[in-house]
Amino acid sequence: MQQKFVGQPISRVDGEAKVTGSAKYAAEFNVPGLRYGYVVNSTIAKGKIVKFNLENAMAVHGVIKIYTHENRPSTAWLSLNYADMDAPPGKPFIPMHNNKIVYNGQPIAMVVADTFEQARYAASLITVEYEVEDFETDLHAHLNEARKPKKGLASALKPGPPKPKGDADKVFESSAIKAGGTFVHGVEHHNPMELFASTVVFEGDKKLTIYDKTQGSVNCQLYVANVFGLHFKDVRVISPYVGGAFGSGLRPNYQLFLAVMASLDLKQSVRLSMNRHQMFTFGHRPATYQQTKFGADGTGKIQAINHEGIGETSQYEDYTEIVVNWSNMMYPSPNAKLQYKLLPLDMASPMDMRAPGGATGVHPLEITIDELAFNAKMDPVAFRLLNFTDVDETTDKLYSSKELKECFRQAADKFGWKDRNPEPRSMRRDNKLLGWGMASGIWEAMQMPTRAEAILNADGKLTVRSATCDMGTGTYTIMSQIAADFMGMDMADVTFELGDSDMPFAPISGGSFTAASTGTAVQAACLGLQKKLLKKAGKLVAPFSDADIDDVEFTDSGLRLKKNGGKPLSYKEIVSATKEKQLKSKNMGWPNVMKQRKYTRATHSAVFVEVEVDEDFGIVKVTRMITAVAAGKILNPKTARSQILGGMVWGISKALREESVMDHRFGKFVNDNLSEYHIPVNADINELDVIFVEEDDKIVNDLGVKGLGEIGLVAVPPAIANAVFHATGKRVNDLPITMDKVMDRVAPLV
Ligand code: MOS
Repeated sequence: MQQKFVGQPISRVDGEAKVTGSAKYAAEFNVPGLRYGYVVNSTIAKGKIVKFNLENAMAVHGVIKIYTHENRPSTAWLSLNYADMDAPPGKPFIPMHNNKIVYNGQPIAMVVADTFEQARYAASLITVEYEVEDFETDLHAHLNEARKPKKGLASALKPGPPKPKGDADKVFESSAIKAGGTFVHGVEHHNPMELFASTVVFEGDKKLTIYDKTQGSVNCQLYVANVFGLHFKDVRVISPYVGGAFGSGLRPNYQLFLAVMASLDLKQSVRLSMNRHQMFTFGHRPATYQQTKFGADGTGKIQAINHEGIGETSQYEDYTEIVVNWSNMMYPSPNAKLQYKLLPLDMASPMDMRAPGGATGVHPLEITIDELAFNAKMDPVAFRLLNFTDVDETTDKLYSSKELKECFRQAADKFGWKDRNPEPRSMRRDNKLLGWGMASGIWEAMQMPTRAEAILNADGKLTVRSATCDMGTGTYTIMSQIAADFMGMDMADVTFELGDSDMPFAPISGGSFTAASTGTAVQAACLGLQKKLLKKAGKLVAPFSDADIDDVEFTDSGLRLKKNGGKPLSYKEIVSATKEKQLKSKNMGWPNVMKQRKYTRATHSAVFVEVEVDEDFGIVKVTRMITAVAAGKILNPKTARSQILGGMVWGISKALREESVMDHRFGKFVNDNLSEYHIPVNADINELDVIFVEEDDKIVNDLGVKGLGEIGLVAVPPAIANAVFHATGKRVNDLPITMDKVMDRVAPLV
């Protein structure tokens, strides 16, 4: 493979389409005769629908039909048919299944009309009579009722905590140095720029083309076919561009189900979009309660790790995350007790959100480590180096690579960490307290079997395709780079296509595994194409007929013998000589499980943060932040940097701004809009810097790629919390760190 494009900071190949507006999203594909749906959501958390009053809505000009549980067409009987690739154990939510309300915001009716405005207006006229039942939405009021999660198919990807070792409780009690606390995370809701939408094109009896906002076109295809009893080949799901997703598009959302249902029933094309408010009605990052108790000996070596986590879930599914395992993955300890439990509540199932579980569990962990270092009178970086490990103690496997020490060194250097006065409240700038804090992070480096196809045409241009996704991450670009380098071609002659269930199989795009998974698939397809090229060339020119694949190289002027550097045979010539005027190779990129299984594969990060704290107002401002990341080979430093920057911005948001506030009297999120759901604005984001410490990892995959969608977020909230402690001398363990908490008031003044 040539190394011409891989590793270069190449601008996004889809950049121009995006900034000029020619990139089309799910709600932008227009077809003649399109009808528009609009959803009505429940306003109670639990109970029964007694009656719909639909007359006024039906009378609105342009209304075609109103669907409720009473008149909706029947769909698959078995719960299993509704389980998508990312479904946790339990029974998936089925929209408008019956008269039962299981969460506030649940879709209960849908108007279909000639225009969006007519549907929306008609929906506003629908009133509903309910029988309200008692419900519970408060995790913290019922912590002692939490129980172990149920096991299911997905459990393999989200292993529960390992068995306890030693006696972590006892050793903690007798430890020379102790630290710990309780940590509360509020709910967060997904707010990518693009709203969820499905445009369902009715192609004739039982045949659909669906433009959907999703992280998995094949996942949605299988879901729709299973639920509506259609042939897989008659359901095509297309999703060429995704305006951010971050986990919200891993599972099919209710607008897909409802739009398909209406389209099949009416035998017409139907579009259903959510509004911003409805983005708060299908899942969220769960609220959690965590407790840590860590003990170290007099030298600062950790001897006891206790980390307990309780997350909320719905009454119908056991949504789980890896929350507590990270503690003993990152730090060695002879005694460790890790516990994880769930509390079912009357809410929608939680869903994955960027670094699900990682961003949750590493926060208490890295604050507790900071506190241990402080109590041991050690610098927090030195403390982490003293407790560094190359072994993941939850599985006793070596890390396939772990350049975290180098991350600490480079980021600390660039930050100027050596000038830090360790004493809290010792550093000031003007009338503000200055805080310097740091934390480290970890995320898995997974890989999934994925297929890709490489097609070389007689004009010498290459198209590579896979049903994978680019949700803004850079998949189009990095896959084009990989394909160009394997074929020795110029990037301008390579097109990568994705986001179409008709393309070769790809799993959902998540868990930071797309670069490794699809990259390996592209490699497999290109290596297959190389073999075919050589075989065809052998029929044309004598020297190639005896040549082995290792005897030749694939270059921008064509196929060439390595040895005597004979005249290259151009791809155009080879392909033109074929009957089909085309060479194709479709291959599966398999994870090398035999190699991988002996190791833990993970990415790591070190984050250094400066905050200014105005104590009079409790205002925390992040003035600068440096993140160093070790994530194997960096395919494209430009798109990779964007990934990490995005994670850092979200980290600031998670630490200081974001929280969905629940009014437990109604079981309803009250700030379900972008004016009251706080996210950072430009003024909140100052100097951000990213360092990549490359790792040469031959275990993860041939490309050495680990993936970076999530590692950029994980360590940011604890680094900010540690900086706030350094500035103020006050530990704020609950997220977000709002003004009232910094000012030490229990509740905000109203
Ligand atoms: Mo990511 S939360 O796996 O899309």
